[in-house]
Amino acid sequence: HPSNLQMEGSSGLRRADCRAKGGAPGFKVAILGAAGGIGQPLALLMKMNPLVSVLHLYDVVNAPGVTADVSHMDTGAVVRGFLGQPQLENALTGMDLVIIPAGVPRKPGMTRDDLFKINAGIVRTLAEGIAKCCPNAIVNLISNPVNSTVPIAAEVFKKAGTFDPKKLLGVTTLDVVRANTFVAEVLGVDPREVSVPVVGGHAGVTILPLLSQVNPPCSFTPEEINALTDRIQNGGTEVVEAKAGAGSATLSMAYAAAKFAAACLRGMRGDAGIVECSFVTSQVTELPFFATKVRLGRTGVEEIFPLGPLNEYERNGLEKAKKELAGSIQKGVSFIRN
Ligand code: NAD
Ligand code: LMR
Repeated sequence: HPSNLQMEGSSGLRRADCRAKGGAPGFKVAILGAAGGIGQPLALLMKMNPLVSVLHLYDVVNAPGVTADVSHMDTGAVVRGFLGQPQLENALTGMDLVIIPAGVPRKPGMTRDDLFKINAGIVRTLAEGIAKCCPNAIVNLISNPVNSTVPIAAEVFKKAGTFDPKKLLGVTTLDVVRANTFVAEVLGVDPREVSVPVVGGHAGVTILPLLSQVNPPCSFTPEEINALTDRIQNGGTEVVEAKAGAGSATLSMAYAAAKFAAACLRGMRGDAGIVECSFVTSQVTELPFFATKVRLGRTGVEEIFPLGPLNEYERNGLEKAKKELAGSIQKGVSFIRN
């Protein structure tokens, strides 16, 4: 018997099962869309996270192969695979954190909103499963368009009576990861030493890097600000075009998702001072959802930070971002309400 490979329906109690049931320290994490371009490397990275005791890998295709593969890694998490809709409930039951990279990616020429038609329905189905099977789980939503899929999940949870705004987080970490990288390139420093807040949402002009608030403090010429803002806002498109029809960012995204999930897990464990940017239910602007820095704790989002002082360039960017965001949020809300 493989020591910790289980697909739904496999028989026999394994010792690994006892280990998981015996309350091995750590959290139970599910990845929905685990066989995809993001899902596979994300499964690898989550299997390496020492805070994960159980890792559930769900997809509508190829989950057994990915599960067999990842389960051979000699790290602590017990891995179980789940294939297809009939196994969704077992994939979700008991989970503390659910990460969702399920859905179709862009091809050149498409906007993220062009994915709405297919991904809205996928996210609705998965959110319904979460409401039923693990309503207290923290949800990290990656599927695009994030500006609409987060409102969709919120509406599904509200309908089910399970909505906790602290536990629904749209993943915008890749925007921060890119901003850190591109700003470090311009400054000629190590990207690990740079921290750029990116607020708003996750598409085009809604991605608003606050270059006046970079840590450590630094200054840029107007040309540098234009070029950096443009590259950060279009980082996704840069990858989509380079991949030339083979999809969008998967490896940098898996890295970003693993980084964000690790921060959520540290917060859930009770670590102090865990701060990340995320697209969440918010009162920072007049919009119902907005990405800003948030503090992560035992129950999810425990504090939402204000935008801080913006310069004129950023204030103009904020107005553009809010205009587009309002429409994308409304589109998601209407998808469930109407
Ligand atoms: P992919 O096509 O390689 O993988 C998607 C996976 O989802 C596939 O394995 C597919 O079988 C699975 N899937 C489809 N329907 C499903 C369902 N109903 N239940 C469970 N799984 C289902 O795509 P990818 O490159 O991994 O991208 C996935 C999504 O993430 C896309 O929508 C993409 O736009 C988005 N994305 C978001 C960010 C971000 O920063 N938030 C970054 C990159 C990509
Ligand atoms: C990204 O920012 O890389 C993702 O949102 C994928 C995309 O479509 O650009």
